[in-house]
Amino acid sequence: MTEQMTKPLKPTPTLPDAQTVTSVTHYTDRLFAFRCTRPRSLRFRSGEFVMIGLLGENGKPLLRAYSIASPSWDEELEFYSIKVPDGPLTSRLQHIQPGEQIILRPKPVGTLVLDALLPGKRLWMLATGTGIAPFASLLRDPETWEKYEQVIVMHTCRDADELTYGRDLIEALPEDPLIGELVEGKLLYYPTTTREKTERMGRITDNLSSGKVFADLDIPPLDPAVDRAMVCGSLDFNLDVKAILEEAGLREGANSEPAEYVVEKAFVG
Ligand code: A2P
Repeated sequence: MTEQMTKPLKPTPTLPDAQTVTSVTHYTDRLFAFRCTRPRSLRFRSGEFVMIGLLGENGKPLLRAYSIASPSWDEELEFYSIKVPDGPLTSRLQHIQPGEQIILRPKPVGTLVLDALLPGKRLWMLATGTGIAPFASLLRDPETWEKYEQVIVMHTCRDADELTYGRDLIEALPEDPLIGELVEGKLLYYPTTTREKTERMGRITDNLSSGKVFADLDIPPLDPAVDRAMVCGSLDFNLDVKAILEEAGLREGANSEPAEYVVEKAFVG
């Protein structure tokens, strides 16, 4: 790839659906987050995704589905992204700077929403890698805390550094002026790594199947009468977790027919 190709596109004033980047944070050489202005007309439910991107070399928009990581009350939008060296979009998006523009189609959609779940007592958020993004939104939404007695976040990455975005966000929740009080005593956070040696290790699937997570957190096993789950990771991860949830008696829900769990594929390219 040439130096020229890796540079971000210069913003054009006539870009359709343009939003301006307000901040960028790089977490690792594979992960970054950025914030941008929010279209006045954009209303979304926490957990939904939109199409965002840049103008391609051919002058056409190059768009991908990204979960909105900010809560629905936030006046800006936040996104959390992987950097793929030869990924058509992220190889360029990772170089974006404050003041530059991205394209954002203001049509939010998705199944990782509270409305797609039947009422319950415990909410499980199960994520690998950038799959934490929709939960970053839901965790900062008061509705999540009003609807559930307990929220359990399992987030797994290869290395400890990759957990930083989620960890920072979760550790800040009790101090949050809007939801700090709601969160009190309700949040259980269970981060693990699978490659780097850390205090807590293992795949989410293994820690659920073996019962380790229930033992470590001193909580009862999955029960379809009280447990609801939201799943966001790679295709394989989603399928493997679905099998475990189904085995425990939970059924997949949708906007049109709420049930006990919902799944969405995290953006990986
Ligand atoms: P592992 O290191 O054992 O592959 P990736 O970076 O490849 O997207 O993976 C993110 C995390 O998701 C890694 O910790 C990885 O574990 C885990 N993972 C990948 N596939 C699965 C799966 N099918 N079930 C459970 N965990 C998975």
